[in-house]
Amino acid sequence: MAKGLPDYGLIAAQIEALAEEDAAWVPLLANASALVMDGVDNLNWAGFYLMHPVGAGAAGNDERELVLGPFQGKVACVRIAVGRGVCGTAVATDSTQLVRDVHEFAGHIACDSASNSEVVVPIHVDGRVAGVLDVDSPLVGRFGEADARGMEAVVAAIERCCDFEGLA
Ligand code: SME
Repeated sequence: MAKGLPDYGLIAAQIEALAEEDAAWVPLLANASALVMDGVDNLNWAGFYLMHPVGAGAAGNDERELVLGPFQGKVACVRIAVGRGVCGTAVATDSTQLVRDVHEFAGHIACDSASNSEVVVPIHVDGRVAGVLDVDSPLVGRFGEADARGMEAVVAAIERCCDFEGLA
């Protein structure tokens, strides 16, 4: 059965409404992952990875890596190096990754074996990549260009209203 595009604009508006109450990044991204999981059909994982200093910020080390943030879905890998997997590629290239079949993406990191397609969108804070929104589906080809643009609209809302204070 053909389904319409999820209402990404509504998800973005709901995130902005929640931020009016409390914009702190942990609760806001936790609720954002729930809104995406709820509002987009055929997902098995939706959540965030955020940039942190490698080695918990050992003195003199300014290298960063992605660390698991708020999400909905199965237990996921905790750390992803920049340039690794779909998420690390989104950071390294600072661009949305729209992956029709994850098994054809060299270096894809399989957290949930149910995942077959994926979209990853970089999140910017003060002009640099601070993390990613990562969304997985058990369906090959679940996401099209319109979904990628919709996820970017969700991330744009997060960039506008989320308070990332305290994020390393
Ligand atoms: N598949 C991702 C890893 C994160 S999980 O999908 C939640 C990747 O290749 O970066």
